[in-house]
Amino acid sequence: MFDYSINENCLVNKTILVTGAGAGIGKEAALTFAKLGATVILLGKTVSKLESVYDEIIALDLAEPAIIPLDLKGATKKNYLDMSATIASQFGKLDGALLNASMLGELTPFTQIHEQIFEDVMKVNVTAQYLLAQALIPTLQLAEHASLVFTSSSVGSQGRAFWGPYSVSKFATEGIMQVIADEYENSNLRTNAINPGATNTAMRASAYPAEDKEKLATAADIMPLYVYLMSNDSVTINGQTINAQ
Ligand SMILES: NC(=O)c1ccc[n+]([C@@H]2O[C@H](COP(=O)([O-])OP(=O)(O)OC[C@H]3O[C@@H](n4cnc5c(N)ncnc54)[C@H](OP(=O)(O)O)[C@@H]3O)[C@@H](O)[C@H]2O)c1
Repeated sequence: MFDYSINENCLVNKTILVTGAGAGIGKEAALTFAKLGATVILLGKTVSKLESVYDEIIALDLAEPAIIPLDLKGATKKNYLDMSATIASQFGKLDGALLNASMLGELTPFTQIHEQIFEDVMKVNVTAQYLLAQALIPTLQLAEHASLVFTSSSVGSQGRAFWGPYSVSKFATEGIMQVIADEYENSNLRTNAINPGATNTAMRASAYPAEDKEKLATAADIMPLYVYLMSNDSVTINGQTINAQ
């Protein structure tokens, strides 16, 4: 596991957007950031899941989160620009954005990839990530230190049989991250990517339905890297893909 000892106040006064905050790793990250003092903005597809994370945070008497229901498959550039402008006007800045939401698509031989699935995976995992980053950068630039974090995968640096669209989309994610990191080097904005590694979530279960889930890391286990990249301890880290495990 990535070795980082978490200071319990390290995210106080920070506003952090988490995409895919209703389930899996994104939910755990949103709860963890909130417990460390951040005000979290919960973006996701299924409103009831976002509401239940909101309720958990309120029940713990933490800073009130905001909810942004948005399906990355259908969202437009204008949706993202409006969202970023609203964050700027309500919070004055954005200190962190964890771009975590993605879809797996289908695991299938390359010659049998469905065009529609390929397009959907590219829309959610690539186009939406680029549009989100493009819209959020000006609001991230309002913070003293800002952290933009993409989510990659082991198949984002080494292709794997049958993982076609997803693997290609994660290579693209790393490309977007590296381009932004290079453009904003020596600025207040640092941009990195996390490779979570095998983690017990619904997405992992759909890729490996027969495996023993007890042997997998939990989303909570991998949080040290997520917290590190959102805390000021990582202000000099830029353009890296880091393994959470
Ligand atoms: N788990 C692993 O072993 C593993 C390994 C490597 C990389 N990753 C990466 O880690 C990230 C989180 O994965 P996970 O395992 O936590 O997945 P997950 O349990 O499937 O959760 C994915 C989250 O993304 C949201 N989402 C999916 N499609 C969306 C869309 N079109 N619009 C808005 N939100 C959408 C989902 O919302 P709904 O629940 O509302 O659909 C859900 O909250 C992903 O980028 C994944 O590629 C995971």
